Amino acid sequence: MSRSAHPAGPRHADVLPEGHYSAPPADLNALDSKVWARTVERGEDGVVTVGGISVTQLAEEYGTPAYVLDEADFRARARAWRTAFGADADVFYAGKAFLSRAVVRWLHEEGLNLDVCSGGELVTALSAGMPADRIAFHGNNKSPQEIARAVRADVGRIVLDSFQEIARVAHIAQSLGKRQRVQIRITVGVEAHTHEFIATAHEDQKFGIPLAGGQAAEAVRRALQLDGLELIGIHSHIGSQIFDMSGFEVAAHRVVGLLKDIRDEHGVELPEIDLGGGLGIAYTSDDDPREPHEIAKSLTEIVTRECESAKLRTPRISVEPGRAIVGPTAFTLYEVGTVKPLEGLRTYVSVDGGMSDNIRTALYDAEYTVALVSRTSDAEPMLARVVGKHCESGDIVVKDAFLPGDLAPGDLIAVPATGAYCRSMASNYNHALRPPVVAVREGEARAIVRRETEEDLLRLDVG
Ligand code: LLP
Repeated sequence: MSRSAHPAGPRHADVLPEGHYSAPPADLNALDSKVWARTVERGEDGVVTVGGISVTQLAEEYGTPAYVLDEADFRARARAWRTAFGADADVFYAGKAFLSRAVVRWLHEEGLNLDVCSGGELVTALSAGMPADRIAFHGNNKSPQEIARAVRADVGRIVLDSFQEIARVAHIAQSLGKRQRVQIRITVGVEAHTHEFIATAHEDQKFGIPLAGGQAAEAVRRALQLDGLELIGIHSHIGSQIFDMSGFEVAAHRVVGLLKDIRDEHGVELPEIDLGGGLGIAYTSDDDPREPHEIAKSLTEIVTRECESAKLRTPRISVEPGRAIVGPTAFTLYEVGTVKPLEGLRTYVSVDGGMSDNIRTALYDAEYTVALVSRTSDAEPMLARVVGKHCESGDIVVKDAFLPGDLAPGDLIAVPATGAYCRSMASNYNHALRPPVVAVREGEARAIVRRETEEDLLRLDVG
């Protein structure tokens, strides 16, 4: 995944050289279970169903575009993470990936905790009944109001991100007559993405307190002295969409090294370590994510081994998967509006959404796949680019995809693996109305986040 931003300009100019594209899939009607939510299947009539409901029915009832979320799949993935880590560890779902009150209730029922990183996420969690002691509050610039709200609510932990915040949270807690449980987020000098990680020079970022130069040790020193704080552990988050566990290995080694220094200097063994989130999912058939039980086994082994060699009691581990739980559980359903073949290049397929419902392609060069879901087709594959209806040429949803050559206006197409960071990063660009999130389970569908209306837009515009 590229991290470089690009100008919002002429993406249409970057035509790839002949022969770049892999061959079209053998069967364009097949749905690879790697990238589609678990209950998705194609019925005998050719129409795709999820949770037993057809996409044509969903489009009729809820309109398009719509995010369609497989509730059974969400719950199964949440449970798999919970079970994999067992009773001696905690799984915090990262709400930034996608949060709604229904999701909070599912997480609560499945025994997960919740990581929030803003006042808005906190209020969503609390209003849906997530017990405050199961909430972790993150962020590199929490406002005093947000901090006070979290402390008053008795959240389970606040993850401190700077020296100022150590003092700020201590002060607010003390003035409220409380002692707040906290972790300190450190930057361990590891940056991991997909299949690679770099173990140098990435302290150059806004999050956390660098381990380098003794800064993290100083932060611990200060936190231990402040009456308003109970320091329970150290936090590290190394990146996104990671498949390779070696980045976590280096991070754990360095976090445990700090725990050892803390023990040696202060005579305290901190009871917890949080290794963050960032575990990858399959966006295309080329991605091979690991199962939660493999990840749990690997992380637990790494931490245990590091602690044994440092002669420390193994701390309680927590992790914060967001994408790995919600990402694969949803797809975005669109209606095709126009089909524009460009001779010798490709066919542009315009849908009724775009970068307002999925900014990831424009922002990260993220890769997605797409399928015709309202019928099957025996037509020859055509090289397509799925684009939105926004006023810029970088408005691309799926950059390169094969779709059937007889694709026509009115067909429904769906982009899988859009559960994470699509609705949560959706915008009103061009005054688009943000799509609903429709949860489907055992033959029943309901909007857990409704579609925005023109009234919603105008209500904020106070003239
Ligand atoms: N914990 C912390 C402290 C984080 O900063 C994040 C993500 C997570 C957990 C969850 O990471 P996950 O397991 O979901 O990868 N908008 C980007 C992703 C930004 C992630 C930021 N932090 C995207 O669409 O790929």
